[in-house]
Amino acid sequence: MELRTDRVLLWLFDVERDQSACGPLFSELHSGEQRRAEAFLQPVDRWAFVLGRGALRRLLTRCVPPVGPVGALAEGRWGKPGVPVVPGEPPRVEFNISHSGGRVLLAATCGMAVGVDLEVPRPGVEFEELLRRFFSAEEFAEWQSLPTALRTAGFYHLWTRKEAVVKAVGRGLSLPLASFQVTFDPRGACRVVVAPPETPSAWDWTLCDLTEGVRQRSAFEAPLARAALALPGRGFELEWRPAEELLVPSLGKVTPRPG
Ligand SMILES: CC(C)(COP(=O)(O)OP(=O)(O)OC[C@H]1O[C@@H](n2cnc3c(N)ncnc32)[C@H](O)[C@@H]1OP(=O)(O)O)[C@@H](O)C(=O)NCCC(=O)NCCS
Repeated sequence: MELRTDRVLLWLFDVERDQSACGPLFSELHSGEQRRAEAFLQPVDRWAFVLGRGALRRLLTRCVPPVGPVGALAEGRWGKPGVPVVPGEPPRVEFNISHSGGRVLLAATCGMAVGVDLEVPRPGVEFEELLRRFFSAEEFAEWQSLPTALRTAGFYHLWTRKEAVVKAVGRGLSLPLASFQVTFDPRGACRVVVAPPETPSAWDWTLCDLTEGVRQRSAFEAPLARAALALPGRGFELEWRPAEELLVPSLGKVTPRPG
């Protein structure tokens, strides 16, 4: 497997389907991660965390040459986990994780920050309240102008696309969601319309809808699931990889290299 600067690799894991891998993955986590896993109240959240971090660790520890030190992962100012920078090393491995409803999405590339977001909606979400709270008046109006049958999908496109951008930037919600714009009409293209402050122009962002890929790889039907990926650069291929390659111990090496 190669991690290249012009390609993003994607994996989808599922807590129910991949339960048998969770024990071994837990034992490979860093002690701080094991403590975090044990602190989750809901088993589904605990095992989603273990699947995401455990699969990530298998990916990082298989990299040749090593991308270490990956003991305790570094955290950016706003909490984004990453591989510590080693001067003189080949392109830095970049990754991002998202979990929702027992599914876990992992994206990895090198040399370019990446963000992913996955939402498996629960019933009873108050769309209007969230839109008023987090998004601009124009986005709220645009959402209201969608045909009623498209509003749920439109809301989750807006949410996952904005979260993916925020996570690529690495600032979490300290980056106001109303400070940039993305498309979210389910009938239209997926792209950044106005870039976040102090990032490349909208044209230079890549924003992809991963909804279909996630649905195809979910162990159980997830008709409302939505997912998106964002990178502040262009010219990337996406490649879905089989979950087993990170869930089964020691399946080959990973080579990070320029594309
Ligand atoms: C972490 C954050 C960026 C995303 O959280 P989230 O959508 O609740 O959760 P996700 O499962 O998608 O992402 C969590 C993962 O993102 C990564 N992460 C943590 N901080 C991050 C940051 N600042 N930037 C990018 N990624 C980050 C971590 O890998 C984390 O998972 P892990 O600890 O298990 O490894 C959070 O700051 C955030 O934005 N939360 C608000 C969500 C919200 O209420 N949105 C409202 C829209 S209507």
